[in-house]
Amino acid sequence: MALPALGLNPCSLLHLFLCQLLLLLLPSTAVGDSVQGPVPRVKFHAGDGRRALSLFHQKDLQDFDTLLLSSDGNTLYVGVREAILALDIQDPGVPRLKNMISWPASDRKKSECAFKRKSNETQCFNFLRVLVSFNATHLYACGTFAFSPSCTFIELQDSYLQPISENRILEGKGQSPFDPAHKHTAVLADGNLYSGTMNNFLGSEPILMRALGPQPVLKTDNFLRWLQSDASFVAAIPSTDVVYFFFEESASEFEFFEKLHTSRVARVCKNDVGGEKLLQKKWTTFLKAQLLCTQAGQLPFNVIRHAVLLAPNSSSAEPYVYAIFTSQWQVGETRSSAVCAFALSDIQRVFEGKYKELNKETSRWTTYGVPNINPRPGSCSVGPSSDKALTFMKNHFLMDQQVEGRPLLVKSGVEYTQLAVEMAPGIEGHSHLVLYLGTATGFLHKAVVSGDSDAHLVEEIQLFPEPEPVRNLQLAPSQGAVFAGFSKGIWRVPRANCSVYESCVDCVLARDPHCAWDPKAHVCALLPNPIPMSWKQDMERGNPDWACTSVPRGRSRRPLRRPQIIKEVLAAPNSLLELPCPHTSALASYLWTHGPGQIPEDSSAVYNGSLLLLLRAGQGGLYQCWATENDFSYPVVSYWVDSQDPSLALDPELAGIPRERVEAPLTRVGGGASLAAPRSYWPHFLTVTVLLALVLSGFLILLIASPLGALRARGKVQGCGTPPPGEKAPLSRKQHPQNSTEHRTSVGDVDSDNNHLGTEVA
Ligand SMILES: *[C@@H]1O[C@H](CO)[C@@H](O)[C@H](O)[C@H]1NC(C)=O
Ligand SMILES: *[C@@H]1O[C@H](CO)[C@@H](O)[C@H](O)[C@H]1NC(C)=O
Ligand SMILES: *[C@@H]1O[C@H](CO)[C@@H](O)[C@H](O)[C@H]1NC(C)=O
Ligand SMILES: *[C@@H]1O[C@H](CO)[C@@H](O)[C@H](O)[C@H]1NC(C)=O
Repeated sequence: MALPALGLNPCSLLHLFLCQLLLLLLPSTAVGDSVQGPVPRVKFHAGDGRRALSLFHQKDLQDFDTLLLSSDGNTLYVGVREAILALDIQDPGVPRLKNMISWPASDRKKSECAFKRKSNETQCFNFLRVLVSFNATHLYACGTFAFSPSCTFIELQDSYLQPISENRILEGKGQSPFDPAHKHTAVLADGNLYSGTMNNFLGSEPILMRALGPQPVLKTDNFLRWLQSDASFVAAIPSTDVVYFFFEESASEFEFFEKLHTSRVARVCKNDVGGEKLLQKKWTTFLKAQLLCTQAGQLPFNVIRHAVLLAPNSSSAEPYVYAIFTSQWQVGETRSSAVCAFALSDIQRVFEGKYKELNKETSRWTTYGVPNINPRPGSCSVGPSSDKALTFMKNHFLMDQQVEGRPLLVKSGVEYTQLAVEMAPGIEGHSHLVLYLGTATGFLHKAVVSGDSDAHLVEEIQLFPEPEPVRNLQLAPSQGAVFAGFSKGIWRVPRANCSVYESCVDCVLARDPHCAWDPKAHVCALLPNPIPMSWKQDMERGNPDWACTSVPRGRSRRPLRRPQIIKEVLAAPNSLLELPCPHTSALASYLWTHGPGQIPEDSSAVYNGSLLLLLRAGQGGLYQCWATENDFSYPVVSYWVDSQDPSLALDPELAGIPRERVEAPLTRVGGGASLAAPRSYWPHFLTVTVLLALVLSGFLILLIASPLGALRARGKVQGCGTPPPGEKAPLSRKQHPQNSTEHRTSVGDVDSDNNHLGTEVA
């Protein structure tokens, strides 16, 4: 399915329609399974101690919507509902409240707001929307102010916020939205505030404007329809001469049977001063172009959600804008998201190309070449433009070409809402792109792109148990942390916890550019600066053979396959054992082995990764759980199981490996041990039942073999229509009369166990 030309001509629109129809008709699982995208290698649930996060929250404070990092990186300013906070983030752990100033909407505005049928419980407050560092001594802030946008300067003293006096509150129309539900964006560039938001109470008049600074105030022209009435701004990014705006709006240039969303980048020149006769106080350099983020075989990702610029540290590398997209369509229950990279030079090139022109009679958009006007209309050339150029600009604001992004990450079943990006230097001297992605349900994904490869997801962190969107992400590089705002507080998420990777193999397979293996200390640790020569990492290949073997490559592959430690389990024959195997990676497949061969199938089962084993005579020995990831296999855990003192019998191949005695019995059949252990085993119910049934079968066969027993058994079978639960299926096929100890098992024990289990599950 080729969809890159979203709506370029009626043919591809038909294609899109058919494709959409096809996707709707297909069973959602068939599509969903094939387009999952990368899976997070490790997942941390909310409150998991391996990824300890710190939460700042305070009673009566809500909507942690707007974040601003101080220039020294030590203070985080936070705009919440009706207040602004200064948080000290220098120390690890919970951010410390330095001070807080309240900035509520006035009572008059609140009652006017309620009078206009807005909710006094949820809407008629001052929701902070803009928070920028204006100069060395002042912040500039704007809020919805109970549907009456307002702005103010906030004085700083030693990064403490000074109270706002009521007479310093300014009109903020066009800088903050009226409605807290409306999107907005604002950025300060050269002392001017460039903002994109809704400019009216109803939310039907979007605006892109410049205010505040030494330059004249300029706006988009509402009458000329430069912006569709539903334009929704997500980011503003200043560059050398221009400011870029990223937004989504309905597409007027395509005819489609339903409302078609499209993503845009718009551009205005910083040196624009507006027209003299024409376009007074209006932009004379406003241009917009379509942004494309598509991948073959997927619905177009036509709704932009957020965008950030990553300026490279070396002047030779190219700056890129990274943006997240979702689709206006979805397959079944699952939404999909994509992250695309746009080269700034590609965006510039499109703004230097041809225009689109609306034919007023047919209402169709056609391509218009470059006009013969010098300087080119809309270019950032100095000096006043001619009337001819301005007349041209009034109707030629849409570029003909689209800006195509490179998809880095496409993932179904997730809706990304926010992103933050940074480059992380790796051991090999390359830098790796790290994307922190907040989801609509309160998760944070750490994605890494190395070289030209696609992104892989290092980890998924659940920030809060109740699903709600991550509203903001702020990277604090000097603190090595990302801050994530949500309705009730703000999380500090350290970049990485390398200690969760306990071996060199795990550390290398994780492919987290922030972590590397320190062979001297024998730990996976945060990569310090400067990078120590001896530390190990393999971002490109993730190959432990290469990174974790100290002998020259290719000489020996054994050491990594040798267990680090052997767990000795001493168990009586016919014990039921549970041998756990921690699944540290979602990307690995796991397999149990017994010595050099397969695990005994008739007396074992794997449940939730653990091996449940009924230890029969002669089946002791080495049991290993192997993980295979990235074409590399290694034992995750190795057990030596024996009914005698294991140290006597240990395989000579395993000599020299440290050992540790562990307890693994689940229950002992025949010994009368009950299942009432401190922890609950009833998830294992099915396996236990089957294993106990095997024992019972052996017992019954012995019983039936004796004449008296035969009589009793016959009476029993005739007496009840259905056999007890333990006597089902396996009875008929497998018979194990060889175990003499089973003979001593009393029927009462087994029955009561089975019944006990049965009732627990019922
Ligand atoms: C990092 O992981 C280790 C090992 O799981 C754990 O003990 C430690 O508390 C974690 N630290 C943080 C800050 O999450
Ligand atoms: C909202 O207004 C209603 C009546 O108009 C009032 O009873 C209620 O207390 C108000 N709520 C708040 C939070 O002011
Ligand atoms: C910063 O801006 C404020 C508000 O315009 C002004 O009062 C103050 O003098 C400025 N401070 C500096 C250091 O320029
Ligand atoms: C599966 O095993 C893990 C540990 O390996 C444990 O934390 C989890 O609770 C188990 N799940 C069930 C359903 O038993």
